[in-house]
Amino acid sequence: MQRTLVKDALHATAPTDTIFLQGWVRTRRDAKAFSFVELNDGSCLKGLQIVVDASLADYPAVAHAHTGAAIEVTGKLVASKGAGQQWEVVATSFKVIGEADGTYPLQKKGHSLEFLREIAHLRPRSNLFGAVFRVRSRLAYAVHQFFQERGFHYVHPPIITASDAEGAGEMFRVTTLDLENPPRGADKHVDATKDFFGKKTFLTVSGQLEAEIFACALSNVYTFGPTFRAENSNTSRHAAEFWMIEPEVAFCDLTGDMDLAEEFVKHLLRDVKTHCAEDLEFFGKFVDKDLAARLDFVLEKPFVRCSYTEAVEIIAQSGKTWEHPVSWGDNLQAEHERYLTEEHFKCPVTVYNYPRALKAFYMRVNAPDAQGRETVAAMDLLVPGIGEIIGGSQREERLDVLRESMARHHLDEKAYWWYLDLRRYGSVPHAGFGLGFERMLMFATGVANIRDVIPFARTPGAAEF
Ligand code: 4AD
Ligand code: MG
Repeated sequence: MQRTLVKDALHATAPTDTIFLQGWVRTRRDAKAFSFVELNDGSCLKGLQIVVDASLADYPAVAHAHTGAAIEVTGKLVASKGAGQQWEVVATSFKVIGEADGTYPLQKKGHSLEFLREIAHLRPRSNLFGAVFRVRSRLAYAVHQFFQERGFHYVHPPIITASDAEGAGEMFRVTTLDLENPPRGADKHVDATKDFFGKKTFLTVSGQLEAEIFACALSNVYTFGPTFRAENSNTSRHAAEFWMIEPEVAFCDLTGDMDLAEEFVKHLLRDVKTHCAEDLEFFGKFVDKDLAARLDFVLEKPFVRCSYTEAVEIIAQSGKTWEHPVSWGDNLQAEHERYLTEEHFKCPVTVYNYPRALKAFYMRVNAPDAQGRETVAAMDLLVPGIGEIIGGSQREERLDVLRESMARHHLDEKAYWWYLDLRRYGSVPHAGFGLGFERMLMFATGVANIRDVIPFARTPGAAEF
């Protein structure tokens, strides 16, 4: 018989004579004449109540249906007499498929997030993580939908690469050399020509440079895949492995890029609101009381746009004492980003035109300002509670300026010959950005730690599972 998912059973419009369900026991309550078993199959937050009459031939099996056990139930879907649910199932057959005993760690009681991280193989069975990972799945679908509906093509950049797209030197080395006894050249240095790829290779920090190649052929493209950064920052917003979405658009400037970023973020939030209402309600109750109000607020208003220079002035005039005072040319720190979004503007803010010296080599150089200061056409989208969720820019399409920027960053032109070729043949203004998928999930769910929105977090000192 065909399995019905709990989600569909709960949305039934009429009783059903026979229904077949499979799932796991959340709780069981035994009365004299019958038992109530709550069956959850992860298709939605709620479970379905199964009533097993003590006169049923299968009734002895119920005694083995402890919390966590896998069960199969056939029965009738009927209007529930109990409060809190519209439907329940009166069992005609009840089987335990996989037992779970009292050592099952997810007994019905509250567990700390730290404890649940240690049992990442079981935590998807909890209400919170079931909800997080359903939202994660839905958001991934919404990413593709957004771009596909707008004529963007999905590109798969390589995961193993020889180039440092961000030039920040935060890459994980990929090697098959014997680390105990690596081949060495005459200069005693490890001989990378003997390595698997004949040169030094790494896990990618960003698919952007490859996305640019494809934008300069297919016009509108996006990537969506894992990226890796060996930053040793143990914060609630940094992971060593995270997923990034990177659209890249030919014939596009910074304004078009900021417009696309805003439309994209709003699309994703609108989509989860529509399709994950029950899970969001759960987050609103147990994770972040202000979630619903914040999502509505973010969706209603345009995001503020503020140049870096204006931002520095606002911060200077705030009258606050900063741990890191900023003057023009300094990086904005988390405390400044939070002030801008949470106190000054009280909404998402796109900061643009950053000092040239702070940003990556590929960003388009703006004309100097009245005081001769140089900026690049970069933008960061900052949101309340999290800070940066998007980083992007218009790219330098002028060969001579790009070469000069590469020289400033001490990059070897020979290694980036193909990137320079894009500026030699049919170069066009183009722009793109990267959205950190986990940061977006934190924003959409209110979950405060990045370790709790990715199935198996990779952070300094932690690579379990
Ligand atoms: O600002 P980033 O470094 O920009 C780039 O990588 C560009 N190549 C993007 C582009 O223009 N195509 O990273 C983009 C976003 C950040 O805004 C942040 O949301 C996320 O990626 N991110 C991280 N998320 C989790 N853990 C980390 N360690 C992250 N580093 C960046
Ligand atoms: Mg950034």
